[in-house]
Amino acid sequence: MIDNKALDAKIDATLARLNSQFGAAPAVAVVLGSGWSGAVSLVEQAQRLSYAELPAFPQPKVEGHVNEIVLGQIGAQRVVMLRGRAHTYESGDCTGMAGALRSLKRWGVKVLLQTNASGSLRPSMPPGSLMLINDHINAPQRSPLVGEPGSERFVDMNQAYDRELLANARQVAAQTGQVLGEGVYCWALGPQFETPAEIRMFAAWGADAVGMSTVPETILARHCGLRVMGLALMTNMAAGLSEEALTHALTLQQAQASGERAAGFLAAVVASLAELPSLQA
Ligand code: HPA
Repeated sequence: MIDNKALDAKIDATLARLNSQFGAAPAVAVVLGSGWSGAVSLVEQAQRLSYAELPAFPQPKVEGHVNEIVLGQIGAQRVVMLRGRAHTYESGDCTGMAGALRSLKRWGVKVLLQTNASGSLRPSMPPGSLMLINDHINAPQRSPLVGEPGSERFVDMNQAYDRELLANARQVAAQTGQVLGEGVYCWALGPQFETPAEIRMFAAWGADAVGMSTVPETILARHCGLRVMGLALMTNMAAGLSEEALTHALTLQQAQASGERAAGFLAAVVASLAELPSLQA
């Protein structure tokens, strides 16, 4: 459960730092999941700041992980990228990104573009495929909003993934020749991979991809009024759908193999947002 009083103090300190270092907020924030970090090199005039300087951001416990924001330009669009997210499987706590996302919202960010690595439930989306997330299934039925006060906690999750942003992403895919699947992302808590029986159940529920992130952040983002879009990079066929044993190394390897193309498409989507009428100040 979020301690809002303590978190608000951290958000105030975070905002002070963001404002003094970078001035006004960019309209677009991107959360970089596994396989997507190549997008950082596509940011022009990049300025970096460690999460350690931002008290409301998740504080890394493992040395050597990159946990930083990168602020700059992609084409005409100013953007802030978040490298490093808190996963529920690390601590059992699904609220880990609350402070970061609320800080971004209060700073003035409008759009949260989420990326992740996923297992595919669809043979038509083999490893290396990209999927536009058009809805999600919260399989663990965990909510970062448990204990939140007020009626805003009853967040409408219809069209949690913004229809205008989805239409725009489809258009960018058509323009750039990027094959873009589309479907439902199912959150599994992890850290163990799913069983084949679980995957059959998720498929019967209507899932197209499965992964261990994204859903808590989408809930938090919708609660605080950020518009959400999500892109999933398929790193493997989900459990039981291929002969291959599932390992973290395999998913990282596939993420790396497709990372450059994924990052290029992400950059094209970010750049296109500079033209989106509803994002003009
Ligand atoms: N399951 C859960 N999370 C994942 C997978 C998967 O198959 N691949 C990449 N992240």
